[in-house]
Amino acid sequence: MANVKVPYLDLKAQYQSIKPEIDAAIARVLDSCQFVLGSEVAAFEQDFAKYCGTSDCIALNSGTSALHLALLAGKVGPGDEVITVPFTFVASVAAVLYAGARPVLVDIEPRSLTMDPAAVEAAITPRTKAILPVHLYGQSADMDPIMDLARRHGLVVIEDAAQAHGAKYKGRPVGSIGDMACFSFYPGKNLGACGEGGAVTTNNPEYARAVRMLRDWGQDRKYHHVLRGYNYRMEGFQGAILGVKLRHLDQWTEARRAVVQQYNELLANSDIETPVEMPWARHVYHVYTVRSADRDGLQAALTTEGVQTGIHYPVPVHMQPAYADLGYGPGAFPRAEAAAKQVLSLPLYPEITREAVAQVASAVQKASVKTPAGVSS
Ligand SMILES: Cc1ncc(COP(=O)(O)O)c(C=O)c1O
Repeated sequence: MANVKVPYLDLKAQYQSIKPEIDAAIARVLDSCQFVLGSEVAAFEQDFAKYCGTSDCIALNSGTSALHLALLAGKVGPGDEVITVPFTFVASVAAVLYAGARPVLVDIEPRSLTMDPAAVEAAITPRTKAILPVHLYGQSADMDPIMDLARRHGLVVIEDAAQAHGAKYKGRPVGSIGDMACFSFYPGKNLGACGEGGAVTTNNPEYARAVRMLRDWGQDRKYHHVLRGYNYRMEGFQGAILGVKLRHLDQWTEARRAVVQQYNELLANSDIETPVEMPWARHVYHVYTVRSADRDGLQAALTTEGVQTGIHYPVPVHMQPAYADLGYGPGAFPRAEAAAKQVLSLPLYPEITREAVAQVASAVQKASVKTPAGVSS
């Protein structure tokens, strides 16, 4: 974009706001030379487990690794099926294939855009081993009916909480509701590293032990490999940085929610749909996603006005060329497919100014008077 007036994200603004703390954390790691795992990572694991209300947190090198290892710890493998959604980042589905299992997709609930529990029961077969709901955009999926189904059918539940650090479901922190949960600390996430990072949280000591071994070559002690593991360890720098940032997370979430309130008020009388915070949820707004019947027109108009936007996600996983062999064609998941055509994410980060939000909202209002009203779901 030639002339960006409002960026979609501004990671520099966050760094500037806590620069002395981050610089000191990096210096500590350089001094200690604990570049892989080490005491800073261990301290972050303790802090993040406490934050999520779990006994354990195992720090990893990405959210994708977290999903992979959670599935393996849950003993998901060839011949098994895992129920998840097509309207997510591709990693939720790819990880099931990494584990050698088959992803079985179900459509989303139209307001929250998260897994529709009503669709899950019909998808359960004797081969089903796990359910993998995604807390999309920072909002929890409807976990009670999902947990209830899982308990009745003896299934493992793995939360994909990659976008939902600090989100709550009926007052409980995500990450503590399923059998295991997976977080990503990719830099743009609500809790983001300065590089790649991820974690599994759990209250189950056996799952914790398996993930802990699997991330470090399946060793139970040095050079004794009891499982076929991976090199999925978190770097010392990321642990130290995440430890600093975790102390600011709740304040950043409050800032995000204030921005959302401003957007919702300014866009209340426009012909776009603003996101819905479900009655069960405390939404942490990793992204602020509106829906428009003319999404591409709206995005083009905003680009002209210097407003950067994103699309999460333009093509549902079952319609991606790489996953065509899952066996679902166009029309298989109408709600996911409709959402993929209509969603547009507006600039949102804790440091965005009220003036910038007002500028975005007025650009949306100006653009959307030209677009036809009425968005179907
Ligand atoms: C829903 C979801 N699942 C999984 C991942 C994978 O996380 P990572 O990029 O850290 O591997 C992401 C990250 O973008 C995500 O948004």
